[in-house]
Amino acid sequence: MPLQGFAYLGSMAPRSRSPARRVEALRARIRRHDEYYYQRNRPVISDAAYDRLVLELRRLEAAHPELVTPDSPTQRVAGRAAGPFASVRHAAPMLSLEATRDNETIEAFVTRVAKAAGGASDLILEPKLDGLSVEVVYRSGRLSSAATRGDGTTGEDVTANVRTIDSVPPTLRGTRGAAPAMVSIRGEMLMSRSAFARMNRALVVRGEEPFANPRNAAAGSLRQLDPRVTASRPLRFVAYEVLAARGVTFTTDAQVLAAFRRWGLAIPEHVERQRAVEAIARYHRRLEGRREQMDYEIDGIVLKTNALDARARLGATGHHPRWAMAWKFEPRSETTMVEDIVFQVGRTGVLTPVALLRPVDVSGVTVSRATLHNLTELSRRDVKVGDRVRIHRAGDVIPEIVERRRGARRKKARIPAKCPACKARLSRQGPFLRCDNRWECPAQLVGALRNLARDEAFSIAGLGEEVARRLVRSGMVRRIPDLFTLTAADIRRLPGFAAKSSAKLANEVARARRVDLPHFLVGLGLPGVGRAMARGLADAFGSLAALRAASVAQLDAVRDVGAVEAATIHAALNDRRIRALIDGFVRAGVRVRAVREAPTRRAGALAGRRIAFTGVLPTLSRAEASRLAEEGGARVTESVSAALDYLVAGSEPGSKADKARRAGVAIIDERRFLRLLRGGSG
Ligand code: IVH
Repeated sequence: MPLQGFAYLGSMAPRSRSPARRVEALRARIRRHDEYYYQRNRPVISDAAYDRLVLELRRLEAAHPELVTPDSPTQRVAGRAAGPFASVRHAAPMLSLEATRDNETIEAFVTRVAKAAGGASDLILEPKLDGLSVEVVYRSGRLSSAATRGDGTTGEDVTANVRTIDSVPPTLRGTRGAAPAMVSIRGEMLMSRSAFARMNRALVVRGEEPFANPRNAAAGSLRQLDPRVTASRPLRFVAYEVLAARGVTFTTDAQVLAAFRRWGLAIPEHVERQRAVEAIARYHRRLEGRREQMDYEIDGIVLKTNALDARARLGATGHHPRWAMAWKFEPRSETTMVEDIVFQVGRTGVLTPVALLRPVDVSGVTVSRATLHNLTELSRRDVKVGDRVRIHRAGDVIPEIVERRRGARRKKARIPAKCPACKARLSRQGPFLRCDNRWECPAQLVGALRNLARDEAFSIAGLGEEVARRLVRSGMVRRIPDLFTLTAADIRRLPGFAAKSSAKLANEVARARRVDLPHFLVGLGLPGVGRAMARGLADAFGSLAALRAASVAQLDAVRDVGAVEAATIHAALNDRRIRALIDGFVRAGVRVRAVREAPTRRAGALAGRRIAFTGVLPTLSRAEASRLAEEGGARVTESVSAALDYLVAGSEPGSKADKARRAGVAIIDERRFLRLLRGGSG
C-alpha cells in the first residue's frame, strides 16, 4: 500500500474513555474520510488506515450493540462501494495479494507451490504495479463493463469512463468472430510518472489542486462523474489476470498473457518465468534497482504459479490466493524530526512553507527539506516544529511528508507578516501567501534568474542558484534585464570568480542575447507558459511583436492554450510592468529571433518538432517509426535533451527515458505517436 495523503490526520487524537463518545468520534472521522474519498477524489489516509478505523468501530459496536445506529458507516452494504457510482458485482472475487518483505517467506512459498504441483513448478514473475486494480469485462469480444475493485466483491461501475481509455480496446482484436462468450480481465489502471507530472503542472496552471502521487491521480481520474474528464487524463490499463471466462480456456498464465497481447491489451513489462529461489531473488534485485528509472511506479514483484491446475489445487483463503505472493521492495520512507518551518519565496512571489528536517537518508538520498505546499496544507497536515514525520521519496518527485506524530513540545510555524526576503507586504490569495514586491524582491529575482538560465529558456551555463544569489546580493542585478549588461569585469568582482570563470559566464550571457521566441517566452516566466505552450505561441504568431498585439481570442485559438491561459497571457502581456520588462530586455541588447515561417498542419503534423525513440515499439520498427516521424515534418534525433519535444518509448526503454523524465520531456507511447501523426493532440 503506497503512502498517500496523510495517515495520521486526526487519528492521533487522545481516545476518549466512553465507548459512546469514541463510536461517535469514529463515525465522524469515517464520514470525513468518505467525503475526501468520494467527493474530492483525494483520500487523505491510506486504505489500510481507513480500514483500521472501520474495524475499530465494528468491534465497539459488536461489544455495545445498543450503540449501533442505522446511519452508522458499518451499516452500509459494501463499505466504500457506496459512492456516487452504481455498484457492480465482480465476475469472481477480486482478492488481494499476500505480501512479504523477507526471503524466508518467499522460499516457503516456492516450496509450498512446488509441493502442490508435484515437483518444482514454474512461477510467472511480474512487477507489482502501483495503480488501482480494475476489472474489465468483454462479452462476445465487446467491452461490456468495467469496475473498480471496491471491497473485492462489489466495485464501482466505471464503464463509461473506461470506454474513453485508449489502452482498453472497445473490442478484442484478432478473435475473428470467435471471441469468448465472456472474459473478465483484471489489471491495473496506471498513470505514468511523466504524464502525472505534466498533468499536475496543467492542473496548477488552471488553479486546481495537484494530486499527491500517480496512484491518487489515476484513481481520481478514473473516478470522475464526467467521462470527458477521464478521457482527458493520461490513463493506461495493464492486464494481468483472467478473473472468469466462458468460451475460452487456458492451461497456463503464459497463455493468458499471450492472449491478452493478441487481443490488443497491454501486459506488464519484464515478465519472466522462473522456478529457482535464487533466480527470483535476482529478478527482485534487478527490478528494485531499476525502479527509479521506470516511468511508472512499482512497489515490488508478484510471483504467480504458471500452471492453472496447480492454482486450482492451491485455492485461496478468504482474502488472498495461495498460488500468488507479492515480494515488496524496501520502503522509500524514513522518519525524522521537523527542526524548523520556514517560508521560501519563489520566482513568482509565492511563499511556500518548507519543513527543515534533521537530515535523513531515504533510499540513498539525504533529505533535509520537505515542502508543505501552502497555508491550507500546512494547517490541514498540522505539522509543527518538534513533530516526528515520515518522509517518502517517490522517483524524482520532491520528498513528501506522509505521516506525522506530534512531538511532546511542538511549536507552530510562524506565518510571516512580511516577505522574509524583502520585508514587503504580503497578500493572501486563497491558500497562498504572495510577496507583493513582484519586481524588486531579491528572492523573486534569484528565482527569475534561475528560470532564465534554464535550458528551455536562455540556456546560460554556470548561472546556478548560488551565482544568481551573488548577482542579486551584490546589487549588480536589480532588474532581470540587468543580467545582459554585465561584462566580464563586472562578474569578476563577485566573490568566487576569477578571470577565466568570469570571462566564461560573460560569454554565455553574451551568447544568450540572441534567443529565439519560444525560449524567450519561457525565460520571461509568464504565468503558465511552459515549453510546449511557448512553442505553440511562437508557431502561431511568429514574432514577439505579433504576439504582443494578439487578442484573447487569437491566443485562445493557439494549440495547447486554453481559455483561461489565453486570458492570463493576454493580461500579462498587457501589464505595464511586463511591457517595461520586455522593453528592458531589448534595451539590454536581447534580440528575439522571429520564427521564420509558422509551420502549418499541412506541412506535417509534427513540423518543427524534435522526436527521439527508445525501446522496442509494439508494432513499428525503429526505421519505420523514424520515417513516419520525418514524413510528418519532425526531426529525429538520437540523443535526449531538454530541446526534445517527445520521446517515444517502447518496452525496455532504458536510460533515455530516465533522462527525458529529468529534462521534463513528454514521454509518449506508440499509440500516441501515431495519433500525433494524424494531427491529434497526442
Ligand atoms: S495479480 C490476487 N499482478 O497488487 C491475485 N496483482 O493486493 C491477482 N497488483 O490489488 C492480482 N501488480 O491490484 C497481480 N502484476 C500484478 C500486479 C498486481 C499490481 C495489485 C493488485 C492488487 C494489489 C495487491
